[in-house]
Amino acid sequence: MRLTSKHLFWLKAVMHLVALWPIGYLVLSVVSGDAGGDPVQYIIHYTGVGALNTLVILLMISPLARRFKQGILIQTRRLIGLYVFAYASLHILAFISLDLLFEWSLLLQEILKRPYILVGAVAYLILIALSITSLKVIRKKMGRRWQQLHNWVYLVAILVPIHFYWSVKSEVIEPSIYILIIIGLLALRLSIGKKLSQTFTRLRLKLSSQ
Ligand code: HEM
Repeated sequence: MRLTSKHLFWLKAVMHLVALWPIGYLVLSVVSGDAGGDPVQYIIHYTGVGALNTLVILLMISPLARRFKQGILIQTRRLIGLYVFAYASLHILAFISLDLLFEWSLLLQEILKRPYILVGAVAYLILIALSITSLKVIRKKMGRRWQQLHNWVYLVAILVPIHFYWSVKSEVIEPSIYILIIIGLLALRLSIGKKLSQTFTRLRLKLSSQ
């Protein structure tokens, strides 16, 4: 079955629900005192992992669209990408407000003490650029440069698991699993790219021999 724009509407509605539900759950957990002994840590972890999970889903869209020949799925990438940005923004807001209590002078000390914060900050700056340029008018104005900029999402996909791995003290299993998933998805992306370039080369050779 080929998905149509009507299916796309419902798919996007479900995606909004799936993305917003965990935020409601987080608020309920904190209000009802179910957020563990250290709710601040809980919120930073929850929103950080939320951003990373959404990023993993984002990277899965293109391979899935190709595998099942559902090109329309590509149109969900902007929505999912903006949720990556939203979760990452909540994560950083929680850190700055609940952990640092808006003491900006503490931020530099924190970066010196925990350099992995810089890695997260670079990833976040890229996410800001990608979110702003995801607007249709800007996309049109940027032309081919838009795709070049949006390929930086792969750098974000490398930086965030490093940020995660570096932030933990001993529990390395969870970040290691994410590193493996991202390596797998990037390898898939490379092999798809390679196959496409082989197809183009064959096509060019065929055309030049005619
Ligand atoms: C200025 C940018 C950022 C800051 C200041 C920041 C801050 C932090 C801090 C302080 C922690 C450790 C919490 C702890 O002590 O355990 C952390 C962990 C984490 N961050 Fe970030 N982060 C930033 C950007 C990002 C971005 C852009 C993402 C994802 C897209 C992200 C995802 C994560 C994840 C998955 C963890 C591990 C969760 C945990 O085990 O606590 N961070 N971040």
